[in-house]
Amino acid sequence: MCKYIVNGGNKIEGRLNIRGAKNSILPIMAATILNENKSIIHNVPNISDVYIMIKILESIGCRVDYEDDTLIIDSSNINSGEIDEVYVRQMRSSIIIMGAMIGRLDYTKISYPGGCAIGSRPIDLHLKALKELGIKIEEENGYIKCFKDNLKGAIINLEFPSVGATENAILAAAKANGRTIIYNAAREPEIEDLAKFLNSMGAKISGAGTSCIEIEGVKRLNEVEYDVIPDRIAIGTYMIASAITGGTLEVDKVVHDHMEPICDKLRLAGCYIKYTKEGLILKAPEKIKAIDLVKTHPHPGFPTDMQAQLMTLMTLSDGVSVFYETIFENRFMHCAELIRMGANIKHITENICMVKGVEKLHSASVKSPDLRGGASLVLASLVAEGKTEISDIYHIERGYENFENILRNLGADIVKLKDK
Ligand code: UD1
Repeated sequence: MCKYIVNGGNKIEGRLNIRGAKNSILPIMAATILNENKSIIHNVPNISDVYIMIKILESIGCRVDYEDDTLIIDSSNINSGEIDEVYVRQMRSSIIIMGAMIGRLDYTKISYPGGCAIGSRPIDLHLKALKELGIKIEEENGYIKCFKDNLKGAIINLEFPSVGATENAILAAAKANGRTIIYNAAREPEIEDLAKFLNSMGAKISGAGTSCIEIEGVKRLNEVEYDVIPDRIAIGTYMIASAITGGTLEVDKVVHDHMEPICDKLRLAGCYIKYTKEGLILKAPEKIKAIDLVKTHPHPGFPTDMQAQLMTLMTLSDGVSVFYETIFENRFMHCAELIRMGANIKHITENICMVKGVEKLHSASVKSPDLRGGASLVLASLVAEGKTEISDIYHIERGYENFENILRNLGADIVKLKDK
């Protein structure tokens, strides 16, 4: 177990180059199962979730090489259809492997992922989508068994645009017989990236990035070489690090459209943001402005994965901001820790809270409650007076590559120590 020690007060500024998105690489790694060939993937972030997915792929017979930021996955020999429960427990999103497994094999078994800290996270929509495609599903003793008889294209209506359910449906439909149409599909950039990756292997998917995705099943997929999109959430987190400490940040590579839901809120907070040819520049505001209402929403709305970090920024604003979390039911666990650091936050209901800006935050010993909540505490520590200790940082390392080194290179006084 490790912790961060941060001495607040330094400006976070300079140039930033961020590797691929966590939420893209995980489904893309799952998609390699569909390919009876080699997949070469560049711009892979060095985060612990990627290592868990490597272990899953190796456990079913894939050969995986990971050097620098390149993954080479050879899925020609898959010798098991069962995913060990231990992996699903470590990483809930390993459930997206299900669609790819049943696209490739006649049978797969995976443990039910259950809830996690931020919410109950059911998978009813994933299972409904697979059933529509002709997969027979048996649920018993916490396991899901999928049997493929005739994997056939179908019309899938998602009641809610779930990211994971859309991904599982795309993965299973890529090699189905005939055409699939997914209505009310999730529109997140990572869905588009998954479809582009699959199309580079020879799949026929159109409409990804919109709420209607069409997939014409193909028989075989081919060797592929692909670059993952930059991580909009990691970039947004560093932008807030600069915004809250009065810095200027130049990000080398971003996809402008992907950043807009985040940039829109940062502009309201008073930040100056200019898109450059391939990147962007952020200048912190003189005084952080309160944003009346921050409501999380599926893309292109404001992402739930940035809610905690933006809340940290609002703790130092010039007024009152209301946060309304509509995606996950338990995503305010960072509030209690921010309050320990001097923030003024009041819960109105389970998923609404009110943040009143204060003059300054102070140091404390705090605990990362989850991945993004942990990042929000590090952001607070960068500007807090004194020395802050942040424990349980394994949550943060699931999704941020080299977090402390990148922040240190940008000016932070941060070290990572082994916890006693
Ligand atoms: C993905 C992201 C996560 C992000 C989230 C929302 C990955 C690896 N993770 O998670 O970082 O915060 O999208 O943008 O990409 N739901 C159901 N039934 C289902 C599926 C989902 O009720 O079958 C509910 C969930 O409980 C949640 C909401 O739908 O309340 C959104 O979940 P979903 O979009 O599926 O998120 P994930 O794919 O789990």
